[in-house]
Amino acid sequence: EQINKGNYEHYMQKEIHEQPESLTTTMRGRLIRGGSCKAKTVLLGGLKDHLKTIRRSRRIVFIGCGTSYNAALAARPILEELSGIPVTMEIASDLLDRQGPIYREDTAVFVSQSGETADTLRALEYALENGALCVGITNTVGSAIARNTHCGVHINAGAEIGVASTKAYTSQIVVMAMLALAIGSDAISSQIRREAIIDGLFELPSKVREALKLDREMKDLAKLLMAEQSLLVFGRGYNYATALEGALKVKEVALMHSEGILAGEMKHGPLALVDENLPIFVIATHDVCFSKQQSVIQQLNARKGRLIVMCSRGDASSVNVGGSCRVIEVPQVEDCLQPVINIVPLQLLAYHLTVQRGYNVDQPRNLAKSVTTE
Ligand code: G6P
Repeated sequence: EQINKGNYEHYMQKEIHEQPESLTTTMRGRLIRGGSCKAKTVLLGGLKDHLKTIRRSRRIVFIGCGTSYNAALAARPILEELSGIPVTMEIASDLLDRQGPIYREDTAVFVSQSGETADTLRALEYALENGALCVGITNTVGSAIARNTHCGVHINAGAEIGVASTKAYTSQIVVMAMLALAIGSDAISSQIRREAIIDGLFELPSKVREALKLDREMKDLAKLLMAEQSLLVFGRGYNYATALEGALKVKEVALMHSEGILAGEMKHGPLALVDENLPIFVIATHDVCFSKQQSVIQQLNARKGRLIVMCSRGDASSVNVGGSCRVIEVPQVEDCLQPVINIVPLQLLAYHLTVQRGYNVDQPRNLAKSVTTE
C-alpha cells in the first residue's frame, strides 16, 4: 500500500497530483494534430461506427451519480454548442424513480468511473428496454456498464483508490469534451472553435500542473476554514458543475456542510444566508459569464459576505472587492475546459481540510467507492 502511494500520504493526494499524467493518458492517441493542410481532429475508436446515429438523435441524455453526474454537467454546454442537439441531465436514481421518458431516438450516455454503480446500471437496463442508443463512459474495462452499452469510451485515468473521485472527474470531462468534438466534427461552421478546443486540450496537462502549485495556498486557506461549519460555493455556466463538485468534495471527505450554488439563483434564496461569518467561495474565471459574476461578487460584498474568489490569472484587481476578500488566481484555458483547471484548487482545499480536521481522507465514514446496491 505504502509503495502504491509513492511519496504521498494518501491516495486522494496522490490522485490529485497525478492529474497532469492521467489527463495525458486519457487523450493519448485520440487527438490528431493534422498535417500541413489537414484539420485537427479527435478519434474515438469506440464510437466511430455510431457517430452518424448519435448525430441523428433527437436528444442526448447524460445519466450518472455523484461526481460522474457533475462531470457530465460540466461537459453539457460544449456538447450542446458543438452538436446542436438538446442535452438533458439525469441523476440515475431520479430517472428510475420517475420512470422518465426515454425514446428510441435518444442517445443515452452513461457516465460511471467504476462502471458498476447499481443505480446507473439499472438506468442502463431501463434505457435499453426503451430502445435508446446507449453509450458508456467508464474508467473500468470489462465493467458491467462497459459491457452492456452499445458503444463507449474508456477514460483511461488509471485506477482510482480514494473514495472521493478526483482524477477520474477531470478525465471524464475531457472525454466528454472529445465526444462533443467528435459529434460536431462534420460542421464547417465550428471548425475554428473545435481547433481552439483541441489546442486547449493539448495544453491542459501543463496548465493543471500550474494549478497544482496552489497546494500551499489551499493548505493555508484550509487552516483558516477548518473550524467552520459550512462553506458555500457559487458558480455558473461552465463552472456550475465546478461549484457542485467542489462542494461535494468538501462534504464527503472533510465532513463539512457545503453547498454548490448556481449563481444565477442567488437572489432566489441563497442571498438570505449571507453574513460576515459564512465563508463563500465564488468561481469567477474569465468566460462569457464573467461580468455577471463580477456583479454577484459586488452584491455579496454589499451584504458583508466573507468571500474567497477564484479568478483567471491577471484578473485579481477586477474581482477583489477589498476588505477580507481573498483571491485565488488560476491559469486560463479555453472556456469549456476551464472546469478541469478550476476543480483542482477545490480538490486541494477539500484534501487539506480533511487532514486538518483529522478525518479519514481515503475512506470517509459511511461512504463506499462503488455503490452496488440501490
Ligand atoms: C460513489 C462514490 C463517488 C462516485 C459515485 C458514482 O458515491 O463515492 O465518488 O462519484 O459513487 O460512482 P461511479 O463509479 O458510477 O462514477
